[in-house]
Amino acid sequence: MDLIHGEGAGELFQAQSHMYKHICSFMNSMALKCAVQLGIPDIIHNHAHPTTLPQLVSALHIPPTKASCVHRLMRLLVHSGFFAIAKVHEHEEEEGYILTPSSRLLFKDNPTSNLSPFVLTVLHPALVTPWHFFGDWLRGDDLTAFETAHGVSFWDHGSHNPEIFNLFNEGMASDSQMMSVVNFRELKPVFEGLSSLVDLGGGTGLLARIISEAFPQLKCTVFDLPHVVANLPESRNLEYVGGDMFQSVPSADAILLKCVLHDWSDEDCLKILKKCREAIRSEEEGGKVIIIDVVINEKKDEDDITETKLLMDMMMMTLVNGRERNEKEWERLFLEAGFRHYKITPIFGLRSLIEVFP
Ligand SMILES: C[S@@+](CC[C@H](N)C(=O)[O-])C[C@H]1O[C@@H](n2cnc3c(N)ncnc32)[C@H](O)[C@@H]1O
Repeated sequence: MDLIHGEGAGELFQAQSHMYKHICSFMNSMALKCAVQLGIPDIIHNHAHPTTLPQLVSALHIPPTKASCVHRLMRLLVHSGFFAIAKVHEHEEEEGYILTPSSRLLFKDNPTSNLSPFVLTVLHPALVTPWHFFGDWLRGDDLTAFETAHGVSFWDHGSHNPEIFNLFNEGMASDSQMMSVVNFRELKPVFEGLSSLVDLGGGTGLLARIISEAFPQLKCTVFDLPHVVANLPESRNLEYVGGDMFQSVPSADAILLKCVLHDWSDEDCLKILKKCREAIRSEEEGGKVIIIDVVINEKKDEDDITETKLLMDMMMMTLVNGRERNEKEWERLFLEAGFRHYKITPIFGLRSLIEVFP
């Protein structure tokens, strides 16, 4: 007797499994957030040997009755590649948890970058709530689902909520700190001949600081909203200026925009790019705009990378009326803003470096 009816039944169960995986996918995000909130990467990093479950439970101050819950949380996180299991001592059976390359980006003293603030920012309830309003927003008139959920834009909300504002800046800074692995001196052709650079929408200036240290002769200015750049420490070749980039952009040889244009609609990007064009020197004098942002490339990228870029695109749409763009969409913006040509170098994982020439 056949256990299941009909030839297509196996396929149906597969489809059900596929659907349940997607229904439950947010739990991957929340399990990761929980691990960060509890400081699990730090505990494992600070342990001389692989951390056993009882050691982890004890370090977390979790009652023994919930030890098996920690085991199940870690089982999922091991499955998703955030932790791995290794023998505590070479010739013994006992096993414990170790970090993987992904969770090595989540402990506090990591000299490269600690992306924990980025995890806590993107998964903050204020940024997750708009997803519950996505359908309502699509049918309504609000610019973003964030506004449908909170009644104000993302940027206005941030300026009135210091906790989220600080977390967001810290999150973006941790993202920029990843750039410390880049040997900027190897990018000499990009910065060669420049004597001044404005990092527009540069946040708290982490990237500008890295660049200013790699090129001591380059005068770097971080330009961002006044409350973002207030009271930040300057250096010999790094200064902060507060303002609104839609009103004015300081003049410089070149302007850097990292993860800024993806926050804005095409119309707003054109306004920003036209202001940048007015603010820089001619190409013959070395003038250019340097963009670090996502370029969607479904044909060349691996599936996983494309999926991450598409998810980031959804995030930009939900929070800020922005978007991730493919090369054609970027090109249209550059030409319409009056630039003549551009060069894309895909060197920063998800992000590319795009030089745009007047
Ligand atoms: C996604 S963050 C990127 C920060 C930084 N470039 C980085 O990658 O870490 C966008 C930045 O644009 C700034 N910003 C938003 N509106 C602005 C405006 N009208 N004028 C200047 N900066 C603005 C925000 O304060 C924020 O720091």
